[in-house]
Amino acid sequence: MPEYAVLLKTSLTVGYNTLMNRIKALSLAELSDGSMKTVRVGGKVLTIARIGQEIYAIDDACSHAECSLGSEGFVDELTVMCGCHGSRFDLVTGKVLSLPATEDVKSYRTEIEGGDVWIIL
Ligand code: FES
Repeated sequence: MPEYAVLLKTSLTVGYNTLMNRIKALSLAELSDGSMKTVRVGGKVLTIARIGQEIYAIDDACSHAECSLGSEGFVDELTVMCGCHGSRFDLVTGKVLSLPATEDVKSYRTEIEGGDVWIIL
């Protein structure tokens, strides 16, 4: 690749990362298929889950009583069930699917690049 192309790609990547607040969360190898983790990213605590080759990120604190979804919950297809009182959330949208929680949690865009998982905050 010509030197100017490398410089352009680097500056575009740096600019994109700065503009979008794109932050590396963890290595893809740290998440096996069907697993999730609680990860601190850019001052937020997130649940990051892997389903096949897709990565999903939502706020870690359950909207019912703030139990950690990533540490105490269970992944079931594209949902996570809170381990404390059983509320379920959609991993894609963060939408609450069952009581006792009544409020959604925030979901975040993710990207996989170079074997790393990035979160767009
Ligand atoms: S803290 Fe999650 S359902 Fe109660």
